[in-house]
Amino acid sequence: MMKTPSICSLLFAFLVIFLCSSAVSSDGHDDFLQCMSLQSNNHTSISNIVYTPNNTSYSSILNFSIQNLRFTSETTPKPLVIVTPVHESQIQPVIYCAKENGMQIRVRSGGHDYEGLSYASEVPFVILDLFNLREISVDAENKTAWVQAGSTIGELYYRIAEKSQTLGFPAGVCPTVGTGGHFSGGGYGALLRKYGLAADNIIDARIVDVNGRILDRISMGEDLFWAIRGGGGASFGVILAWKIQLVDVPEKVTVFTIDKTLDQNATNIVHRWQYIAHKFDEDLFIRILIRRVNSSEDSKRTIQATFQSQFLGGVNRLLPLMQRSFPELGLRREDCTEMSWIESILYFAGFPIESRDVLLNRTQPNVRYFKAKSDYVQKPISKNGLEGIWKLFFEEEAEEAEMILSPYGGRMDEISESAIPFPHRAGNLYKIQHLVYWEEEEVEATQNYINWIRKLYSYMAPYVSRFPRAAYINYRDLDIGVNNNDNTSYAQASIWGIKYFKNNFNRLVQVKTKVDPANFFRNEQSIPPLNSW
Ligand code: FDA
Repeated sequence: MMKTPSICSLLFAFLVIFLCSSAVSSDGHDDFLQCMSLQSNNHTSISNIVYTPNNTSYSSILNFSIQNLRFTSETTPKPLVIVTPVHESQIQPVIYCAKENGMQIRVRSGGHDYEGLSYASEVPFVILDLFNLREISVDAENKTAWVQAGSTIGELYYRIAEKSQTLGFPAGVCPTVGTGGHFSGGGYGALLRKYGLAADNIIDARIVDVNGRILDRISMGEDLFWAIRGGGGASFGVILAWKIQLVDVPEKVTVFTIDKTLDQNATNIVHRWQYIAHKFDEDLFIRILIRRVNSSEDSKRTIQATFQSQFLGGVNRLLPLMQRSFPELGLRREDCTEMSWIESILYFAGFPIESRDVLLNRTQPNVRYFKAKSDYVQKPISKNGLEGIWKLFFEEEAEEAEMILSPYGGRMDEISESAIPFPHRAGNLYKIQHLVYWEEEEVEATQNYINWIRKLYSYMAPYVSRFPRAAYINYRDLDIGVNNNDNTSYAQASIWGIKYFKNNFNRLVQVKTKVDPANFFRNEQSIPPLNSW
């Protein structure tokens, strides 16, 4: 329940409304701003955290964390208001006032949503951007941390390393990814085979529900706590913070990167990797990045498979293990570098390992136009099948295309499909992320690249999981199905929902029906409640 304002605060509120919207015409947000002032404790602070299109900082606040240039064009629908709370108590009024004024909320933590759902919407909306809520407190003794949802994983890794050289956390590779979206969709990186996903290692959380109540694990109950660990946060409320279980990492890990082109037997080595990478010792993670490159010898185009690895141990243990498990790669001692776990984070993210402070940067240096898709592979792809992929990578649109193959197995095989909503466990050899990047902003060019990745996706159909053709929610892809904006049936949502969540989709719908029956928290791929037909 929201509090009733006193006369004094009402007068003050009107002053604030006047100040913060003096240049605002009545284009839809006045009532929202007025409501915000009435509902807020500290009216002065509201004017510092609310941005409308009339505010000079509006565009920079909107754009600073956008990762996909596809959603920065003039035709991308923009929010009526952006609110950047500095305190949790400033979130409840946003929910209340958005409901009162028929506006949707898009919650943004790191802004990495592949389809821009955290900052673009066809209906009148407010962005609730949590970037100011990024406190992280690490308890090294108990191996836990509380992480506010606006923190990035880079900030988290940095704060863990400040406290300990032998603790880590199994989350993603790119430091600017936000913990709000990433953990609520699963979240994986080089520690996945040893410790599973970020979401597998969450032990408590705080969320603001649709009624403005702040709940923790006990007060939200196990169903909702289950749902937000992999089911996507945006359907259920505003996640404020996560309590996570930190994991042990050795003082020294070993990394290597080995490139193989077609002339260097790439097809055979990739083919072989499919049979063994999921069975390696769980300390060993070797992913493959596939791209088209110009060969260094004759500048002719070729396909390059980059084998990039993190091993949780020293090189003396790694070399015999590689000799036994994957001699085809021909790993030599000079290919390997020993370093601390935090340095390996920088290494994987493509930064010099001395530059630890870059983990605190919230903006990506290299933001481009892109479209991505995901797949799960359950049977090795034949050499013929691989050669068909290479052929597509020789097409014009694939100049900056990439395929990232991430091995499963290890801990991922041990966790049951229903432990959390993320269902892709035993039976999957590896996950593929398909990506295409481009520089041109023209609509026609965009369409060409998107057509190319759709063609690749069609080509892949016989080689990947079926019934459903599974997908990873954190690699959001609106091609696999979307909701109607207002009234989505269970049947319609299950088209995409089963792909992301398999049978867990049904339990997510039950949780949604219980916690947000009127479907206030919704977007193009949010879980619908059962009563919306
Ligand atoms: P963003 O803020 O855009 O939110 C994503 C979704 O979550 C939106 O629907 C949003 O509304 C919702 N949301 C965000 N915060 C919320 C909150 N506090 N409460 C409720 N809902 C909330 N993935 C991976 O597993 N491993 C990896 O290594 C990488 N690497 C990577 C690199 C790059 C460059 C990109 C662009 C993306 C990745 N990802 C990834 C994918 C990433 O995990 C995915 O995009 C996450 O959803 C991003 O979370 P953000 O908070 O940054 O996004």
